[in-house]
Amino acid sequence: MRVGMLTGGGDCPGLNAVIRAAVRKGVLHYGDEFVGFTEGWRGVLDDATTPLNLETTSGILHRGGTILRSSRTNVKKIEGGFERCAAVIAKHGLDALIAMGGDDTQSISLALSERGVKCVGVPKTIDNDLSGTDACFGFDTAMSIATEAVDRLHSTAEAHNRVIVVEVMGRDAGWIALTSGIAGGADVILVPERPIDMDEVCRLITYRREHGKKFSIVVVAEGAKMLEHAGQTSVGTGTDSFGHVRLSGIGQVLAEEIERRTGYETRSVNLGHTQRGGTPTAYDRMLATRYGVAAIDLVHAGKFGRLVVLRGTEISDIPIADAIAKTRTVGEDMLALIEGLQPLRVS
Ligand code: F6P
Repeated sequence: MRVGMLTGGGDCPGLNAVIRAAVRKGVLHYGDEFVGFTEGWRGVLDDATTPLNLETTSGILHRGGTILRSSRTNVKKIEGGFERCAAVIAKHGLDALIAMGGDDTQSISLALSERGVKCVGVPKTIDNDLSGTDACFGFDTAMSIATEAVDRLHSTAEAHNRVIVVEVMGRDAGWIALTSGIAGGADVILVPERPIDMDEVCRLITYRREHGKKFSIVVVAEGAKMLEHAGQTSVGTGTDSFGHVRLSGIGQVLAEEIERRTGYETRSVNLGHTQRGGTPTAYDRMLATRYGVAAIDLVHAGKFGRLVVLRGTEISDIPIADAIAKTRTVGEDMLALIEGLQPLRVS
């Protein structure tokens, strides 16, 4: 078979491991040929390709980012976009297309599948918020990077009796904040799933000072919202092609408000894109490799319009439509875990 591949949306560690695994299994076991489309869906629209074979995918397993590069190109917003994509796919004589990406990327895979293009999806986002899969590759690496940062920030917080607010990624779901906050021993963990209650934040910080610890760590997801105003904190005025604002700054807003209310010296650190950089963890390399092999196997099984997923420890697959129908958010059980580690509220 001839198979196309693309990586869409935010880059993340593990993408190259997926590409390598799909190409190796495809070439070595199925005799497949591959075409790499560059810069996400933009490469399909513009017929921008790069060779994908054993040689070009050798030595990339450990590399962050994506050799195919990426973009947030929304085919739906381009006049005749789907027809252009279908024509390019036909021109290359492709039997299938493997698209790695989050909900936005997969929404295009779904739309093309509904138009007869044989697509297989691979779930990718450090936010870990795609429904139907227990894990997206990239998340474990982001969690590890954020946890190490939280560990390191304890030094300055303790040395200077400071509150340090760490802003992590997570647009609609607080998985990175939750896991790096708990693993890093943060005193306060704030997620998009629950509005920020400043009284409670200050209570927890003050409690700690009154019980012998003159410093605190607060971890907040970029998508978290203050109780006083429902909107998220963003920069700039524009949105990306899928309508997302550029989130940033909630950490600084929170730090200023904490210092104003408590009088404690407070600093904020926004980890930003460092959470998506560098080499993937061994877990992400393994999961990404399993996803890549599962994706090419799905192609040869003739199962299209489907996303490879992880269920527990097993690899499976679900309709792409089910994966993007809703966001996989942090549940009440995990929110209770956070609260269980904090001093009880005195009602
Ligand atoms: O979708 C993953 C993600 O890293 C989000 O956590 C973050 O808000 C967004 O991408 C940043 O997008 P960009 O790299 O386009 O600024």
